Amino acid sequence: MTKIRVCSVDDLQPGDARRVECSPAVAVFNADGNFYAVADLCTHGNASMADGYLEDGAMVECPLHTARFCLKTGRAMCLPATEPLRTFPVSVEDGDLFIEVDDPDAEAARTVAGSGVPA
Ligand code: FES
Repeated sequence: MTKIRVCSVDDLQPGDARRVECSPAVAVFNADGNFYAVADLCTHGNASMADGYLEDGAMVECPLHTARFCLKTGRAMCLPATEPLRTFPVSVEDGDLFIEVDDPDAEAARTVAGSGVPA
């Protein structure tokens, strides 16, 4: 696993999302002060979860067909998605947010603000 810095904790406020463009891409969320990282690509189709809608209870709704996923476990909570999103370890060190990913080249990955619109 490769540990990479996503951003400063201050740059990911509650309701915000960021996409880390590593392989595979990862979506990082601040849900009510708790940080979560899941695969950015929806398991049902070609949609970025970083552009999804955060909901109460650490859930994200896919922006394309509205499947909802649990950010804690990645579990698909409703159709049309049936497969879970992969989850990734998240940590905070000295005010910075880190994730651990498989991509050995991820240290150079770009991070992009997602829409992360609260529902
Ligand atoms: S692409 Fe996400 S629910 Fe269809």
